[in-house]
Amino acid sequence: MSAVPVSNSTAPEQTMRIRRTTTHVGADILDVDLSRPQSDATYRRMRKALIDHGVIFFRDQNLTSRQYEDFARHFGEAIRPKSNFMPVHEGSEIIAEVRKDEGMDRNIGGTWHTDQVFRTNPSWGTMLLCREIPEHGGDTLFLSMCAAYERLSEGLKKTLETLRAVHDNTGVQQRMKTGKPADPPVSHPVVIRHPESGRKILYVSPSYTTHFEGWTEAESRPLLQYLYQHAQQPEFFCRFRYEKGSIAFWDNYQTWHFAVNDYDAGERIMHRIVVNGPPLAG
Ligand code: SIN
Repeated sequence: MSAVPVSNSTAPEQTMRIRRTTTHVGADILDVDLSRPQSDATYRRMRKALIDHGVIFFRDQNLTSRQYEDFARHFGEAIRPKSNFMPVHEGSEIIAEVRKDEGMDRNIGGTWHTDQVFRTNPSWGTMLLCREIPEHGGDTLFLSMCAAYERLSEGLKKTLETLRAVHDNTGVQQRMKTGKPADPPVSHPVVIRHPESGRKILYVSPSYTTHFEGWTEAESRPLLQYLYQHAQQPEFFCRFRYEKGSIAFWDNYQTWHFAVNDYDAGERIMHRIVVNGPPLAG
C-alpha cells in the first residue's frame, strides 16, 4: 500500500472533527476553514476520512477559485479530464463547471456511475464546490461498493474475482446527445483492491459496464443486473444536500454517485476538480 504525502504545509493543526454520515458511507468534516492553510496532519486526517468513508463533506467553504485549487492539490495532481459535457470555468485550468443549461432535459451525472471507469487509468478523487443551488433539489447520492462487495456470498465473491468487466461510454455519449465519438472500451478486474486501504471493491458501473470479458452482453446482463440491484440497498447509501459553499469530495474507486435531476436549468452550478491518485490494482 502506498504512502501518500501530498502536502508540505507548515500551518498549525486545527481542531477538525469527523462525523460519520451513515454506517457504510460518508463523513462530515467539521470545524475547519479551508480558506486557510492546514497542517500536514490535518490534510492526512482528511485523506484518511476519505479513504475510510468513501466521501467527505464540508460546509460553508466560500473559497475563491485559487483557494479551491490549492486545497485540491494537497490530495494529488489536480486535473480537468477531457469532457464533452463540462465547460472549463473561466480563469482556471483545472476547474470544470457542472451545470444544466437551457434545453437540457438531462443533467450531468444523473445515473449511477463511477467517474472515468471507461479509461485505462480512471480518476481517483472528484470534488464539487457548490456555487449555486435551488432551495430544494440538486442533491447527490453516494453508495459504498466496498460494503456492496462485502455483503455478497463467499461463492459469488470467488466467481467475481476471476472476471474482468468491459466498460465504455457509448451509452452516455448517446444519452447526453454530444454527437461525439465514444472512447475505445477498456477492461478492469471486477473486484479491485483499494490501493490505500487494501479493501476489496466491486468495480462495475451501471452507466458504463457493458459485459464481462469473454461473455456476451446477453450472458452478462443477468449477473450485472443482480449486482446493480444488490448494490442499491438503502443501507449502502448516503445523500448530500448542498448549500452554497458546500464541498463533496469522493473516492471514485470505492463509491458510485448519482446526481438527482430535480431542478431547472441554471439553478445548480458546481465547480468540479478531479485529483489523480494511486493507480488501480486488481
Ligand atoms: C458528476 O457525476 O461528476 C457530477 C455529480 C453531481 O453533479 O452531483
